[in-house]
Amino acid sequence: MSFSKPRWIPLDENTLHPNPFTQFELWWAEAVDVVREPEAICVATADASGQPRARMVLLRGRDERGFCFYTNYESRKGEDLEENPRASLLWYVEPLGRQVRIEGNVEKVSIEESDAYFADRPRGHQLGAHASQQSRPIESRSALQDAVDVVGGTFEGKDVPRPNHWGGYRIVPTFFEFWQHREDRIHDRVFYTPQGNGTWNLKRHQP
Ligand SMILES: Cc1cc2nc3c(=O)[nH]c(=O)nc-3n(C[C@H](O)[C@H](O)[C@H](O)COP(=O)(O)O)c2cc1C
Repeated sequence: MSFSKPRWIPLDENTLHPNPFTQFELWWAEAVDVVREPEAICVATADASGQPRARMVLLRGRDERGFCFYTNYESRKGEDLEENPRASLLWYVEPLGRQVRIEGNVEKVSIEESDAYFADRPRGHQLGAHASQQSRPIESRSALQDAVDVVGGTFEGKDVPRPNHWGGYRIVPTFFEFWQHREDRIHDRVFYTPQGNGTWNLKRHQP
């Protein structure tokens, strides 16, 4: 991994891959060499009133069905998505001067996918998923630790099952933007919008 010299590669709509999922994978392959945690991605939701809310999550699944992250379904973001199942993802790759914005509809991943992901997590994470009522207030750190200890006792010597309130969401893209920093500040931006037949329209936009 090198943080030394920026490698800003101009973005050309004629050489971008016609499939934005593939283009994302091409940028991903370059990001993993220069970013410590490329999975860190911002997800923005909005409630029914339109109030936006953004926070970081870890991107844990990517394929042509969409982009997945895992969380507590009863969290604030879970409530937002219940009211308004749409989201925007923002991925920033600072050393390469790149950002990707994705917008789309949100669905829960299958129970099987959530089970498989949960089963793979370290035990401490599994206990935390049971103990933490994510986004709810709590009087102290020690009260939270007590809750973890209680759960630890409950599952002592046993596998920890996935709680029903915890699982994955998949953002099914309806829009991508690939943005490339340029030294002269006349940055490159290319939008992908679906053409309705499984293919995407690419269009340069002004910076
Ligand atoms: C780098 C990073 C990665 C994170 N990954 C996750 C994640 O994968 N899932 C999750 O629920 N929260 C994750 N968090 C915590 C969230 O940002 C957030 O605090 C939490 O999900 C509660 O958000 P909410 O109250 O808006 O629902 C992460 C935070 C950071 C800084």
